[in-house]
Amino acid sequence: MRVIVTGGCGFIGSNFIRLILDEVPRAVVCNVDLLTYAGNLENLAGVEEGFKGRYFFERADIADRKGIIAVMDRFKPEAIVNFAAETHVDRSIEDASPFIHSNVIGTQNLLQLAGERGLDKFVQVSTDEVYGSLGPEGCFTETTPLAPNSPYSASKASADLFCRAWHETYGLPVVVTRCSNNYGPFQFPEKLIPLMYSLAVKDQPLPVYGDGQNIRDWIHVRDHCRGVLLALLKAAPGTVYNFGGQAERTNLEVVRGILAHCGKPDSLVRFVKDRPGHDRRYAMDFSLAAKELGYAPEVTFEKGLEQTLDWYAANAGWIENVTSGAYKDFMSKWYGDRL
Ligand code: NAD
Ligand code: TYD
Repeated sequence: MRVIVTGGCGFIGSNFIRLILDEVPRAVVCNVDLLTYAGNLENLAGVEEGFKGRYFFERADIADRKGIIAVMDRFKPEAIVNFAAETHVDRSIEDASPFIHSNVIGTQNLLQLAGERGLDKFVQVSTDEVYGSLGPEGCFTETTPLAPNSPYSASKASADLFCRAWHETYGLPVVVTRCSNNYGPFQFPEKLIPLMYSLAVKDQPLPVYGDGQNIRDWIHVRDHCRGVLLALLKAAPGTVYNFGGQAERTNLEVVRGILAHCGKPDSLVRFVKDRPGHDRRYAMDFSLAAKELGYAPEVTFEKGLEQTLDWYAANAGWIENVTSGAYKDFMSKWYGDRL
């Protein structure tokens, strides 16, 4: 099975590439990544040598028709798993344009080319954020109406709708997966868990938006990747599957857990101006994926968080390497007037 995995140098894509190469001996992977600020070749160190002849890398923009045609001509894929995207909500609030380019136009370009080449499967990796925000009760199901609130989630919802259209109009075998908040090794330190860890170890203030009572349903990246792999191997075309981790926590609970793990005081928490349009609560009903794909999360949040923070401690150099000048510019611009 020859699979193009886009965004494979990012957090989830790099974890997915290791998983599929480990678990599916017939899989040959071409990682197509533009290497934006969030993409790092270091995330796949050792993979080329460890899986000789089964792993290739191509630097390309998924929105570039000619570039992707050239990759397809060389690699001759049978399937695409599309992880490539701009992914940080706060950056989408600063400037939505890159999100429209990569998440909407990029996905449409891949759908178009997948259709022209008659590919066997197209898996679009999407998010629970397309459903908007929940009140205190209930969970998102696959039939919950899309109601995105941030420019990021609006771009992901647009991509989901193009996926639906390509299935309905052209019969492309598309599957959309929607997952809750991931954590684990190789997550870029702009997202809650690695950001708070990297600040805590340096005894710097931890910026918690609003009252810290927003709830996310945390899932270990390995569980998400197992779900995406099941979708690639087993899902029927035209379906949408939710994945969640059954681990709803308030942001404050997560941040305090990180501080406790690092042996740092709660006084490092700073409540700062809220994120505009901040979704209050996410929670996923993944019973469809459980029934049809045999999906179930395996990593409990407390164990997974401990392992993840231990990984960051053992890989302190990784954080230093990925936080470039551009990262520092965004952080001081975004948090400058908050902290
Ligand atoms: P990430 O930001 O860590 O990585 C994104 C990767 O995509 C990077 O390697 C980047 O270089 C690449 N990329 C961006 N634009 C590109 C383009 N135009 N062409 C080629 N490559 C490009 O993101 P992540 O957290 O690993 O998320 C991966 C996917 O999973 C995204 O589609 C995201 O929407 C989805 N998702 C993420 C979460 C989460 O909690 N992180 C949850 C649900 C769904
Ligand atoms: P984030 O990791 O950006 O993921 P998402 O917005 O996709 O859910 O944020 C997770 C939660 O943490 C979200 O409710 C916003 C909150 N948060 C903070 O309180 N402070 C921060 O500095 C960041 C980055 C996030």
